[in-house]
Parts: sequence; structure tokens; C-alpha cells
Amino acid sequence: MAITEPAIAATQLRREKQRELYRRATRSLPGGTNSNFRAWGEDTIYIDRGKGGRIWDVDGNEFIDLRMGYGPVILGHADDRVDDYVNEQMRKGVSFSLTSEQEVRCVELICELTGWVDMARMTVSGTEATMHAMRLARAFTGREKIVKFEGQYHGVHDYALISVLPDDVSTLGDRTNPTRLAWGRGIPEAIAKTIIPAPYNDLDVLRAIFEREGESIAAVIIEPVLGNAQGILPSPGFLAGVRAITQEFGSVLFFDEVKTGFRFARGGAAEFFGVTPDIASYAKAMGNGYPAAAFGGKREIMSLLPDSVSHGGTYAGNRIAAAAAVATLTILKDTDALEHIRATGESMQSRIGELLTRRGIAHVFTGHPSMFGIMFAEQSPTDYRGWADTDHALYDAIAVGMIARGAMPEPDSREPWFICEAHNEADVDRVCASFEESLNVALEERTKT
Ligand SMILES: Cc1ncc(COP(=O)(O)O)c(C=O)c1O
Repeated sequence: MAITEPAIAATQLRREKQRELYRRATRSLPGGTNSNFRAWGEDTIYIDRGKGGRIWDVDGNEFIDLRMGYGPVILGHADDRVDDYVNEQMRKGVSFSLTSEQEVRCVELICELTGWVDMARMTVSGTEATMHAMRLARAFTGREKIVKFEGQYHGVHDYALISVLPDDVSTLGDRTNPTRLAWGRGIPEAIAKTIIPAPYNDLDVLRAIFEREGESIAAVIIEPVLGNAQGILPSPGFLAGVRAITQEFGSVLFFDEVKTGFRFARGGAAEFFGVTPDIASYAKAMGNGYPAAAFGGKREIMSLLPDSVSHGGTYAGNRIAAAAAVATLTILKDTDALEHIRATGESMQSRIGELLTRRGIAHVFTGHPSMFGIMFAEQSPTDYRGWADTDHALYDAIAVGMIARGAMPEPDSREPWFICEAHNEADVDRVCASFEESLNVALEERTKT
């Protein structure tokens, strides 16, 4: 989403180098950036550096970072504990296509922290992790179809890009029999047909799908919260219900914990919600921003590797990722980092909540204090379609205003705010001040229109 000029002019962010880099980048880099999600048109941001909970763009503007790289940077940018260990290890060489001790340790830590994963394999991205885990589920069950929930993002491979994040939710069709909506061109119809979209938090629709075609359903892939719709939470009993239905029909339950893993709790969302899946994908928080990811699960499924199912990758388990994961997971295991992050998030929520209540603005917080959304509505929606009914125009106006005032949430109301260990009370003060000023401006603008 473009950051509007009036908001920027209001605080006079310096933009000279950014403008110049954008012009230069768009000549050779589509959209001026390496991911569609970072392509913000003329306002695409070019970064110089980060430290702790703060980042600086190429023009030297400083921001309290609430995006944290879309979640991975759980301890803080350029964390010395992680970086020193990575540096020490990388000097021994990074890519051998042979296995290092750090890879073994990384997977042991995943097993230990989750308490239910028996075996895991490393990948470089969350996309690869979900892709490989989906293939494993198909191989294990001998079935092809996979149920996925509307509004959930599981990466950029063809099997994951169905019914993801349309702005116009009417394109999702009938709620009880949703349209299969490929995100973008180039996804083969034959692949799209293997995915069955379903509304989140609706066990009746899920059961109907299973009663109709359960014998061909290999798995249900689910991010335990709607991480790409501000972390809408599962209704009481929903995850347990999905667990029961998958068990009843002999399908695999696959938790995509790319965002929630090692963040909601040491054992991720599975621990937090008390529901154990059969397989899971992990990424983001496990490497504090280094490209470390994994998929893992029960021994009987994972044991299809290496002989019966394909998985490989020149960079899978590379030294840098493995070292970063060992250092990060060890810190998360042995320190109170997660408790600290939670407390910081709660403090931010309570101060913003008080402000909104004082102003009489209906709002709800969604997600977990370490990864939360603010929705302007009387009550939290229960699925992606419900997100559309919240006042996200107000949210977007505030987010844009905050960026102009030195705090950077994602300027799209679907993405939650991420808290890291390094965020401190001074950062919370600045976030709350920028929120309040931006709210004032947004409300003033509203009265004019
Ligand atoms: C829940 C979820 N799954 C998978 C992915 C894909 O991970 P990556 O961007 O590392 O490929 C993401 C990325 O945001 C995600 O949020």
C-alpha cells in the first residue's frame, strides 16, 4: 500500500535517497524490490540497518520496527549473541552439501522445544517447508487433496496460493462451498484443483467437506491463527475439532507454524492452544532473521524420508542458517525472552486499548501479545471474510501516519504487529505517541469528508 504524501509531508521524513534508489531499482528489479509484498510503489522503502527494535532507512530516518521482517526477528535486529555465533561458525565455511553438527543440534532443539516433533528436516524458507510437508502428507496417506483455509498464507509455491488474501472477499464465493481462487496467473489448474478452500473457524463446513470427499483428503493445512488477517484466533474448540475430524477420516493435521512457532510459546501454537498436529512447518522465529526453516513431525510420517519421498536442497541446513537456529533456539529455551516479549506486547496493547476506549472507539486485539492485530470493530471477526467488515480504512490511515512519525507497522491492516525481545518501554512510548497522533489526524480527516 502506498504511503500517502500528506502523511509524509506532515512529519517531513527525508526521502531523497529513497526516491533515487526506487528510480534506479525499477530499471532492473520488478517493482524495485525482491518480493511483491515489499513493492509499495513510489514509497518502497530501502533499508540501511537495524539494531534491536529499531531500523534506519537509506535517508537516515529512524523507526521503531513493528514488522520485524514479517516476524522472524524475535530477539532484535543484529543481535550480538546470535551474530557472534554465526560469525564464528561461518568462518569455517558455509556450504559443503555435507552435514554439520549444528544441523543435528538445530533439529534436536526443535524436538525438545515442541515436545511432540520426533524428527525434522531443515529448509531455507517457510515456502519450502510447507511444500515438503504437504508432499509428505500426500505420500503418507496416498491421497492428493489438501484442505486450506481462506485468508491463510503458506508461502509462494503453487499449492499454497489458493484463496489467500483477496481485497474483495465477494470473489471467495459461497461460504459453504467456497470458490477456489488462484492468487495470480501461472498456477496450473490441475494443481489448484487439489486444494479445497474452507472458511476458518467453521467446523460444520469442514465436516461437510470431509463427508463429501474425505477419502481423497491427505491433510488439512492450517496456521493455528489467521496470521495474515491480524491473527484472528481460533474459536474455542475449533482446533480440537479439526484434530478430531482429521483423525476420524485418516487425514494428516498439518500446523503451519512459520509465524507462530517458537513465538506463541516455546512449543509454538501447538503448545499454546494444547492441540498436537501430525506435522508442522517452522521458520521465522527459529533463526532471528537468518534464512532458517524446517518441517517436522511424527516419526511414522518423517520416516518416509529419505527413501520414499523427495526432499533436498543445496542450501538446506547451510552453516549460517543452522548456526543462527542453534543460537536463537537456545536463547528462547534457556532465557525468559518469550515472557519478556509477551509483557512488552501486553503493555503496548493495554496503553493503546486505554486510549481507544477513552475515545469511545470500538476495537479488539487479535492474536498473541507477541504478534497482535488491532481491529476496529465491536467484536473480533472469526474468519477472513469477517476481516473485510472491520474498519480497516481507519487502521490503514493510522499505520501510514505512524510510519510518517517514526514507528513502522505494516501499512496493510492484515499484517499483525511483531514484538521482539529488544523492544523496551521507551519504544512502547514512541509507538503509543505515534499511534495517538496518527489517530487524531485520521479522525480529523474523517470529519472533513
Ligand atoms: C504462515 C506462513 N507460512 C509460510 C510462509 C512462507 O514463508 P517464507 O516467506 O519464508 O517462504 C509465511 C510467510 O510469511 C507464513 O506467514
